[in-house]
Amino acid sequence: MRSDLAHHMLPVVEAAALAAARQMGRGDRKHCDRVAVEAMRRAMDAVPMRGRIVIGEGERDEAPMLWIGEEVGRRAPEDDRVDIAVDPLEGTNLCATGAPSSICVLAAAEEGGLLHAPDCYMDKVVVGPSARGLVHLDAPVVENLRALAVSLDRGVQDLVVVVLDRPRHERLVGEIRAAGARIRLISDGDLAPAIGACVRGTGVHAVMGIGGAPEGVLSAVAVRCLGGYMEGRLVEHGKGDRERAEKMGITRFDRLWTAEDLAPGESLLFVATGVTDGDLLRGADFFGAGARTHSVVLERNPTPRLRFVDTVHGSGRDGFEVRL
Ligand code: FBP
Repeated sequence: MRSDLAHHMLPVVEAAALAAARQMGRGDRKHCDRVAVEAMRRAMDAVPMRGRIVIGEGERDEAPMLWIGEEVGRRAPEDDRVDIAVDPLEGTNLCATGAPSSICVLAAAEEGGLLHAPDCYMDKVVVGPSARGLVHLDAPVVENLRALAVSLDRGVQDLVVVVLDRPRHERLVGEIRAAGARIRLISDGDLAPAIGACVRGTGVHAVMGIGGAPEGVLSAVAVRCLGGYMEGRLVEHGKGDRERAEKMGITRFDRLWTAEDLAPGESLLFVATGVTDGDLLRGADFFGAGARTHSVVLERNPTPRLRFVDTVHGSGRDGFEVRL
């Protein structure tokens, strides 16, 4: 993957975030998602790559753009082949209601560097670098939390675990409470906290529970770039999940995946831009002469690099007054 791909991908994700953020609080989650998809797709064809969507908006006949298998990018003969995973708007409800932590996300790897995950559920546990290899999906929750607390040099009662607020997590929440840790129940969006769990100072120490498998692969890219640790396993929910997984090349539906299995690429790129304010990223701001976005750019190509990018986008030919 070319070394300046991040530079070309950042505007793609920023464009999606600006489009979605314009719709913040208007109550129409589908419209929020649609404008983000359209903006991302439009911007993507300027990128010097022969890209292929491996995680996107669904199969060809159900998604008008960014469908799985779609060829994207400038596609000049000299361009590298790149596999791309997108979540043009992660947390559609959050954006539609103006709630915190909706983000636009894109990940990329060399061809074959990302698992082609079906759109079904995945049980996940994500922790930061200190707990690499110390927590396991199949271990009792209390043991995982004790190991995590020791790795962070604190007590279990000082940990914050993020869990999607769903009836399916009743038992998990009970076990975390019984262990004595604190919990943040979120209404949507388990990808942003997965990044947060890998960065000290965000107030998030782990993400646990069942969320989307595509979000799982995207999380794995961020986790690998940040040196964190993740395990996941697909969960059968709807009819046909196993068949769809098999079609995508997954022969053992019940296998355990680490971040390295979900995103095995040698070169990895992850870009997220805030739509609404969150722990890690501020949301997009609009002002008279332009707008401002906040992004995180993670690379492992092959050594890791993290950048926080604060971009002021002018709307006209004339300059604008920049305020800190
Ligand atoms: P959106 O597709 O509306 O952005 O929702 C995203 C999300 O909340 C993910 O963050 C999470 O992994 C998944 O949905 C959970 O799915 P469900 O809402 O079916 O529990």
